[in-house]
Amino acid sequence: MGKFVINGGKKLSGEVRVESAKNSVLPIMAGAILTSEQVVIKNCPKIHDVLSMAKILRSVGAKVRFENENLIIKADNLSGYTVCQELGKELRASVVMMGALISRLKKARLYYPGGCDIGLRPIDLHINSLKNLNVNVAESCGEIFCYTDRVKGRGIYLDFPSVGATENIMLSSVLCEGKTEIHNPAKEPEIVDLMNFLNSMGAKIYGAGTSTILIEGVKRLHGTEYQPAPDRIEAGTYLLATAITGGEVKINNCNVKNISPLIHKLCNNTCKISIKDDIIYLKSGREKKCFSFSTGPHPSFPTDLQPQAMALACVCEGVSVIEENVFETRFKHVPELIKMGADVTVKGRTAIVTGVPFLTGADVCANDLRAGAALVLAGLSAKGTTTVSGISHIERGYLDLDVKLKSLGADIKRQG
Ligand code: EPZ
Repeated sequence: MGKFVINGGKKLSGEVRVESAKNSVLPIMAGAILTSEQVVIKNCPKIHDVLSMAKILRSVGAKVRFENENLIIKADNLSGYTVCQELGKELRASVVMMGALISRLKKARLYYPGGCDIGLRPIDLHINSLKNLNVNVAESCGEIFCYTDRVKGRGIYLDFPSVGATENIMLSSVLCEGKTEIHNPAKEPEIVDLMNFLNSMGAKIYGAGTSTILIEGVKRLHGTEYQPAPDRIEAGTYLLATAITGGEVKINNCNVKNISPLIHKLCNNTCKISIKDDIIYLKSGREKKCFSFSTGPHPSFPTDLQPQAMALACVCEGVSVIEENVFETRFKHVPELIKMGADVTVKGRTAIVTGVPFLTGADVCANDLRAGAALVLAGLSAKGTTTVSGISHIERGYLDLDVKLKSLGADIKRQG
């Protein structure tokens, strides 16, 4: 397991470019098997989760290869409908292969998905939705087997606006007879991205990003070349890295409206932010004021930026109150931040962060993707040296995080 060694105290400065969104690319890769024609995903980041998803697609017979920055997928001769347990455990997004395989082959076999250990993360909403679409689902010992003679469109209400369940419904109903309506769907930008991708293949989907999504089933989908949206969580991570080090950075390839809750918080936290087209320019203020927030489904503050924002709150003057309303145990970064001198008290889903003048370098461990990013940010600002182990978690979702931070002036080295 590799680690990052960071000598803190350097102010970040310069320019960095954000990649295509991990949480768009993964469901889009699943959607690529809905046609036998070639699909090109442009500027696809070679992050670990994408490589894992590529292995899953190959395991059912799709051809998948990188051609420079583009990912080329051709599912003209699918050979199976099973996502093996070993591959499925590597990432949560393996679960949306269920919808894609049902659409294409009317069968799917997979196992409970893996992914960040940030809560129970059941898939009841996925399974109940598929059953509503006339799909038979049998579960035993963690294995899920789905089959249907035909998927039938109908109205589905989600008790919780689950991102993955919304994606599975879209993928399983896009080629079916009739119309499907999703009520209370996830409104995340990645859902809009998946709709745009599928529509570029000839699908008829309307309303992603709103409280009702309509999917009119079509007979077939054709190939496409598609540029996914920029990664709003990566952009937010670099904004927070700049703020925590007191730096001044230009971030290219951003879709600002997708991270407005963070932008708003940072402006109030005495950062100066200016925006021009897809560029965000952040200049840190002299002092850092505390800020409170509650995470929630989009358009609330994104849960995927909660750990990184907490790292900043640890060195802000005053008391910040952070509520995590999406995942029940997404505070695994707290004990590690406390090792660095942070003052954080957790009560259920609420973390009370009392700012300290500075953090001190320590040996800490990344337990999941975003917690790992938070520890890197804390190390960038801490006095002394911080070693972050378990960086394979971080490399699942960030392309070249150390390289990009080094280009902004950080003293960070990868070891092992
Ligand atoms: C997606 O996970 C993202 N992952 C997560 O990003 C993100 O945090 C999450 O959406 C919320 O925005 C990918 O897109 C690959 P959910 P997903 O279904 O689909 C409960 C990252 O760091 N729930 O919206 O798993 C669930 O337990 C990752 O990039 C059920 O109860 O999120 C959770 O509490 C982490 N039953 C809540 O809903 C279900 O059937 C949100 O889950 C499904 C979900």
